Amino acid sequence: MKVQKHFDIRHHNSFRVSAHVRYFVETEKEEEVPTAMEMAEHLGYPMMVLGGGSNLLICSDLNRVVIHPNLQGIKEHHHGSEVIVEAGAGVNWHQLVRYTVERGYGGLENLALIPGMVGAAPVQNIGAYGVELKDVFVDLLGYHRAHGRMVMDAGACRFAYRDSVFKGEFKDAFVVCSVRLRLHKQAKLNLSYEALQREIQKRGHEPTNHAELADLVAEIRSSKLPDPDFIGNAGSFFKNPILTAEQYKQLKAQFPDMPGYQTATERVKTSAAWLIEQCGWKGARKGDAGVYNKHALVLVNHGRASGADLWTLASEIRQSVFDRFKIVIDPEVDILQDS
Ligand code: EPU
Repeated sequence: MKVQKHFDIRHHNSFRVSAHVRYFVETEKEEEVPTAMEMAEHLGYPMMVLGGGSNLLICSDLNRVVIHPNLQGIKEHHHGSEVIVEAGAGVNWHQLVRYTVERGYGGLENLALIPGMVGAAPVQNIGAYGVELKDVFVDLLGYHRAHGRMVMDAGACRFAYRDSVFKGEFKDAFVVCSVRLRLHKQAKLNLSYEALQREIQKRGHEPTNHAELADLVAEIRSSKLPDPDFIGNAGSFFKNPILTAEQYKQLKAQFPDMPGYQTATERVKTSAAWLIEQCGWKGARKGDAGVYNKHALVLVNHGRASGADLWTLASEIRQSVFDRFKIVIDPEVDILQDS
């Protein structure tokens, strides 16, 4: 276990904003996790879990004990054509995707190139190109501040669109150590997502295996989303808003081009990127805080923007979307601010 005091987490958040935390505790073994949690309790600062930092915006220094679970390792258990893959929380997500598709295990290919670590995947139920983590999830092992070691299945995790119990009741109280996923060697390719279909038609040929589909998804992602190694960002900054059927109907009459996607319920999901682009923000810049020019849902740090600069920009965007469409768009990223 490595403990660092007054630590700058600039290299541990994909927006690359500078912020100091009271303590930064790196854990590499499962047994170190409860020790790190006890340490936070003992020091009297709130604890916080930080994986790859690819889904948060830090707006101030943090008076917290930050636990960085860096548990490695991938294990496999085979049951006929089914493979249960168990990965440590510190494994890089995309490396796990590559590991599985290279061996012919299907299930994660649509989730290729999502930044971050395995431990963060269940926290926001990562999703892309028609697949969500919950579709392949078996269970996870972790530690709760009060309840100790816990194994949690999908029901206990309460997965929803970009949401889980770890963003609600268990927030800042639970550390994920490892995750188990159910994959299949004969899994059918999921090519239903509109943007995938468009790209396949453009190219004139379909991917024929999981690895080829992962490559296609990775290519589409990199053509639209900036690489945090070159330009600070946290992927989609806002969630796509979900409207009642009535609200959508009224808006559609007023704005005929407004996209609408059916959800499992009667509600309609619309595109936050579209709303933001309509308000003229795509490619806009205020100092070093900006909106990516290839995707309006992505806020970017062009260099030296602070978390507060980015949050000011996000708040202006939110307000203008509300003024024009009367729709509230909520951040998808976690906004962190200590006074
Ligand atoms: N659009 C615009 N302007 C833009 C970009 C997109 O109007 O600049 C409109 C278009 O109508 C487009 C639609 O938005 O058809 C949807 O765009 P896209 O397929 O890029 O998906 P998204 O809804 O913006 C969501 C996820 C992404 C995920 C993609 C692909 C959320 C908040 N975001 O984005 O996830 O990669 O779908 O499945 O649900 C992330 O969570 O960080 C993330 C990148």
